[in-house]
Amino acid sequence: MKVAPSVLTANFIHLDDELKSVENDADYIHVDIMDGHFVNNISFGPMIAGQIGSLTNLPMDIHLMVEYPLEWIDKVNFPTTEFITVHAECHRFAESLKRIKYLGKKAGLCIKPSTGVDYILPYLDKVDLVLVMGVEPGHGGQMFIQGQLKKIEELARIKQENGYTYEIEVDGGINASTAKQVKDAGATIVVAGTYIFNFENRKERIDSLR
Ligand code: DX5
Ligand code: ZN
Repeated sequence: MKVAPSVLTANFIHLDDELKSVENDADYIHVDIMDGHFVNNISFGPMIAGQIGSLTNLPMDIHLMVEYPLEWIDKVNFPTTEFITVHAECHRFAESLKRIKYLGKKAGLCIKPSTGVDYILPYLDKVDLVLVMGVEPGHGGQMFIQGQLKKIEELARIKQENGYTYEIEVDGGINASTAKQVKDAGATIVVAGTYIFNFENRKERIDSLR
């Protein structure tokens, strides 16, 4: 299981130290960008995302919670950007996936708790990552919705049956116990904010998620 700490719940006054505290143990740094429309919250924009990228050696896993991702994709195409993920519920997501690939980055497609796997079936051969939300997007610190487990199982089955290679990532409500559940269901990456950044020993927390 790979682990992507979500910088959303880090202490931004001490961002440098926060990023250093996970750098040696995590696989990616998860970077949530919100526009205040697609979700009812605002985090930070491409400028801060770029600074995060320059403060850590971890590759960036960028999660765009925005209505119009085509306006943002090029702005988050940093040298250390590994994944750019857009929502299946946003405008022109199929074109967005193409744009991400055109830029040479890995393309991710995210589904909210109320969106089924059926809705993204035609795109599963074109993505490098499928992000399953474990909570309603927009805020850290919520409880994992158990009903999402069957979507992970379904995505794992489709991946195996078709020889697809996408990562199955889960974001929201992840702790040691839900990480075990999503791992058993077939997830390959977990995102965790509160569980990692609200606890002093970051290494212990990351290890417990694997
Ligand atoms: C929520 C964000 C998550 C968030 C997860 O919309 O996409 O990345 O930081 O936070 P936790 O791990 O606290 O649920
Ligand atoms: Zn996220």
